[in-house]
Amino acid sequence: MYTGKNLLTLDEFRAIEIRNYPSATVELSNLLRDIGLAAKIINGEVNKAGLADIFGEAGSINVQGEEVKKLDLYANDQMIRGLKRGYSCAGIVSEELEEFIVFDDKMSIQSKYIVAFDPLDGSSNIENCISIGTIFGVYQRTTSGTACTADDFKLLGNNMVAAGYIIYGSSTVLVFATTRSINGFTLDPSIGEFYLSHPDIKCPPTGSIYSVNQSNALNYSDGIQQYIQSFQLKNKEKEGVCTLRHVASMVADLHRNLLRGGIFLNPSSPAFPNGKLRLLYECNPWAFIYEVAGGKAITSKGLRVLDVPFTEIHQRTPLFIGSVEMVNELENYL
Ligand code: AHG
Ligand code: MN
Ligand code: MN
Repeated sequence: MYTGKNLLTLDEFRAIEIRNYPSATVELSNLLRDIGLAAKIINGEVNKAGLADIFGEAGSINVQGEEVKKLDLYANDQMIRGLKRGYSCAGIVSEELEEFIVFDDKMSIQSKYIVAFDPLDGSSNIENCISIGTIFGVYQRTTSGTACTADDFKLLGNNMVAAGYIIYGSSTVLVFATTRSINGFTLDPSIGEFYLSHPDIKCPPTGSIYSVNQSNALNYSDGIQQYIQSFQLKNKEKEGVCTLRHVASMVADLHRNLLRGGIFLNPSSPAFPNGKLRLLYECNPWAFIYEVAGGKAITSKGLRVLDVPFTEIHQRTPLFIGSVEMVNELENYL
């Protein structure tokens, strides 16, 4: 890990990684650069959303049956453009697109990776100036040298090689996880450069935060209700032992909990029998990140999220994710 006084730029970090770790591939490193560029472009638009008259709905409904915000579409276009013009990505899956896209140009068909992303997460928060984000997961293809086929998009959590997110908050932070480590880069907007600000992130083994949409608690299973109540009981014994924090942008909730320790719950309910969150581009990337950081992510059946079998590109799963000891404790209630 770099310990010098000067902060590394994202590019310097990439160069050092490739030199230090012979297993680090240039292709994956270049993917990080491509996403970093898209992130800067999206960030610019997020910050001036009100001025640019791009608040509000685009007037269409996405494949999940939700209203599409204009910024969702903008972020989606930028992610696709950034990944297509680089040469590390062979195809993509996006929350905003019903079908996957194959990049079938000469360079892209040589690529090893498929990227699944949620271009703008927490988009219902845009108009209120609350933190939103982008989530992405990088999956290794099983084939190579030819354009991807439909089978290549039957993506499995266990085939992920990297994942990350960008949070557009009080500052803009890009966090990138490989199987080796997780590193966070903060954007200096005055010069448009990402600097390594959060080297080698680890998730504390336990914490005091629980994040859940508590207004739905009576729709959750008895076990989950009891688990949520256990926090309130702890506070009854000694006020302030734990705290509820729920932004309703999973990027913001999970970024905070990753750094401070905590648990995030998105259980199933009658309205969302498989939970609200999507496996390929929300749950798997976060499960990958938390596992590399020492945390844990499971479904309501206690199954490791990364082991959930593929059914379709927009499949959902209940998600319980956080500090390892807190998720272990929750397992007693499932
Ligand atoms: P998206 O904006 O991409 O549709 O995702 C929003 C998700 C997630 O970020 C958040 O944690 C969850 O929806 C909030 O749902 P509830 O308000 O029902 O908890
Ligand atoms: Mn989302
Ligand atoms: Mn989204």
